[in-house]
Amino acid sequence: MLIRAKTIPINRDCFSLQNNLLISAILNYDCLMFKTLKKKDRILSSLAEKEVKRQKNTIDLIASENIAPQGVLELLGSELTNKYSEGYPGKRYYPGNVYYDQIEELAKKRALKIFRLSSRNWHVNVQAYSGAVANLAVYLSVLKPGETILSMNLTAGGHLSHGSKVSFTGKLFNVVHYGVDKNYDIDYGELEKLARKHKPKMIISGASAYPKKINFEKIGKIAKKVSAYHLADISHYAGLVSAGYYPYPFKFSDFVMTTTHKSLFGPRAALIYISKNSSLAKKEKIDLPLLVDKAVFPGLQGGPHNNTIAAIAHGLWLTAKNKKYYRQVVRNAKVLCAEMKKMGFVVVGGKTESHLFLVNVLGLGMNGFEAEKMLEKEGILANRNTVFGDISPFKPSAIRIGTYAVTSKGMKEKDMKKLAKKIYNVLVVCRHG
Ligand SMILES: Cc1ncc(COP(=O)(O)O)c(C=O)c1O
Repeated sequence: MLIRAKTIPINRDCFSLQNNLLISAILNYDCLMFKTLKKKDRILSSLAEKEVKRQKNTIDLIASENIAPQGVLELLGSELTNKYSEGYPGKRYYPGNVYYDQIEELAKKRALKIFRLSSRNWHVNVQAYSGAVANLAVYLSVLKPGETILSMNLTAGGHLSHGSKVSFTGKLFNVVHYGVDKNYDIDYGELEKLARKHKPKMIISGASAYPKKINFEKIGKIAKKVSAYHLADISHYAGLVSAGYYPYPFKFSDFVMTTTHKSLFGPRAALIYISKNSSLAKKEKIDLPLLVDKAVFPGLQGGPHNNTIAAIAHGLWLTAKNKKYYRQVVRNAKVLCAEMKKMGFVVVGGKTESHLFLVNVLGLGMNGFEAEKMLEKEGILANRNTVFGDISPFKPSAIRIGTYAVTSKGMKEKDMKKLAKKIYNVLVVCRHG
C-alpha cells in the first residue's frame, strides 16, 4: 500500500461540504439569477439555477476550469451577441461594425500587452471559438494533410487536439509523439531523436496535464534544427506566463496558442499569436499572420462571436491587473501538493511547478475514475487522468488537481491544508476506515 495513514487529525464522519468553513469564500461569488428566464421558461431556468448552485457549493479542482468574472458574464449575456461581423476589423462582410472593429482591436492590443509583445513582431487573432479550433487553424495554415506533427503523448499530458487518433487532427496529419522520463520531465533527448528521424513540419510544446516547467527554448531550438514550425500551446499556463511564474515561450516559437477561459479570466475561446519574424516562414516566403487569419475565417469558422471577443478583452484587462492572483495560484498548488505528499499520497513526478499536479491513486486500491467519483460525491471535483504508460484511458492511474478555480474563490494556503485533509478523509479514511 503506497499510502501511509499518518497521525493526521481526522474527522471520521465523511464531512458535509455545505457546513464547511472553506465554503465561506465561495459564498461571496455573485451570479446572474436568470430573472427573465424564470418567468418565461421555468424548466430551463430551474436547471440553470441548479447548475449555478452546484458551482457555488462545489470545490472545483479541475485544472482547466476557472470562474468567469461578473464583467465577462455581463458581456457574454449582452446585446453584443446580436451582430454578424464576418471578416476582420476594417474588412467585414457586413455593415454596422464600427464598434465591433474597435472592440476587436482593443482585445488584440490587450492580448499583446499581457505578454509584453509589440505588434511589430507579433500578430494576434482573437476570433477562434475554442482552443481545439485554434490549434487546427495553426496546423492548416502551414501543413498539408499527411504532413508530420511531433507532439506530446496524450497519456503523458498532451491534448486531444495535438494529434490524438480520435481527433481529426490525428486523422488529417501523420502524428508522432514524445513522452516523459522517469522523473516525469519531458524526454527532450527522445524528442530530438524523433524530430531528426521523422522530420516533422511542426513540433508542439504544451500540455493539459504536465505539472512541470516546459523548456520552450530547448524545443524551439530542436524545431529550428529540423526546419519545423514550433507551436507552443500554453492554454494551461498563459496567466502564469504573463505574470512571470512560468517560462516565456514567445522568443522560441513561431506560434503561441492559448485558451482564454482557464487562466485569463475570460470566456471560452482562444488566442493565436503568430510571429512576424519566423525564419522558416521567411525561407518559405509565406505570410504566417495572413495564413492563420484565413484558416480561422473563412477556413474553419463563420462570424466571430463578438460578445465573446468583448469578454476576452475584459478578461485580459483583469489579467494585467491581477498579478498577485497568479502568485497565489502557484502557492496554493505547492501547498496542496506538499500537504498531500506529507500524508503519503503519490505525487506523479514528485512535485508541481505550475497550477496543477497529478496524484497516482492505484496504491489506494482504486483507479482515477473511482477516485474522481468518490470525491465528486463529497463535493470536490478533480478529474481522472492518465499517467504516462497507462494502457487504457478508461482505467487511468491518477487524478489531476489544479488551483485556478479555488484561488478565484479566494482560497489561500490555510484552505489548501484543510482541503488536503478532506481529500485524505474521502479517499483514505472513509474508504479504509
Ligand atoms: C493544452 C490544451 N489545448 C487545447 C485545448 C482545447 O481547448 P477547448 O476546449 O477550448 O477547445 C485544451 C483544453 O483543455 C488544452 O488543455
